[in-house]
Amino acid sequence: MASMDKESQSTKIETHHSAPPLDESLYGLRPQDAVFFKKLTGIEDDAVLKQHILDIQAKAYKVAPYGCIYLFVFTRHRLSALPAYQQVLRLGHECKNPIFLDIGCCFGNDIREAVLDGFPAVRAIGCDLRPELWNLGHELFKSSPDTFPAHFVGGDAFDPEILSIAPPASMQIAGALTPDLSNLTSLNPLRGCVSAIHATAFFHLFKEDQQLHMARAFAGLLSVEPGSVILGAHTGTQEKGVMNKVVRDLELDMFTHSAESWTAMWDGEVFEKGTVKVEAELRQTSVSVGSDEHYPILFWSVTRL
Ligand SMILES: C[S@@+](CC[C@H](N)C(=O)[O-])C[C@H]1O[C@@H](n2cnc3c(N)ncnc32)[C@H](O)[C@@H]1O
Repeated sequence: MASMDKESQSTKIETHHSAPPLDESLYGLRPQDAVFFKKLTGIEDDAVLKQHILDIQAKAYKVAPYGCIYLFVFTRHRLSALPAYQQVLRLGHECKNPIFLDIGCCFGNDIREAVLDGFPAVRAIGCDLRPELWNLGHELFKSSPDTFPAHFVGGDAFDPEILSIAPPASMQIAGALTPDLSNLTSLNPLRGCVSAIHATAFFHLFKEDQQLHMARAFAGLLSVEPGSVILGAHTGTQEKGVMNKVVRDLELDMFTHSAESWTAMWDGEVFEKGTVKVEAELRQTSVSVGSDEHYPILFWSVTRL
């Protein structure tokens, strides 16, 4: 229960403050996103596709009214826009037993992007507090566990039974572990084995000390192989601290890092200084397709040297 309390306290910021009614006018697929959705759903007609996405959005918003669901962020190709994305695909091709783990994966749209670009689906794992969202992902993309055999671990990533903190793996266990990914119910068996860990729109749900906890937990999962990477994007700021902002009727109140504080946390606090390369860049991005309202996003990666 303690861990659930943590989640509800922290995500209250984004989910329970005010959940404005859904606004269809925020819908808009960029050409590359339309290609992705048409290819995966098999729906070619724009109006039918829009209605399908609106239906799933409404169901998901009832499960958890996240800003990313309200703003249709899940319809935008974002994993491939991360600077370290090609590294993820390279790991998928070059590692003997690659593992791609997406924490806070929601519908699993980012995993589907990596799989479409060649990462083996059977070596991909999603983790989310709310399994209903993963199941809605199958509905959204008209797939099933047979046609899309990526694995899923449902649970609270703050629950030590799902993910406990372990020190970053050392050279001694390199290559020694090949966990069985079928029937995983916890991320702990993956310690020291994960080639790429992705978390977008995830860390900003939590307070500063919880973000550090989660970063340490991720570090324990990462493979010792040089080039293994943790990457993502979330709300950032010029100066670290609490950010209060209203974006398209969403009142946001969240702890945000700057590129400098985020870098210092990973290189020195989470990993021994000098053992990782951190790249972090704050960019202003459009709130919705075609909008000239901007929002500060920190794009980042942490690579094992
Ligand atoms: C804002 S959404 C982002 C979803 C997706 N990563 C994206 O970028 O579109 C945050 C996701 O994290 C999940 N989540 C929140 N707290 C969590 C926790 N403690 N453990 C695991 N997942 C969590 C939510 O259920 C939700 O699907």
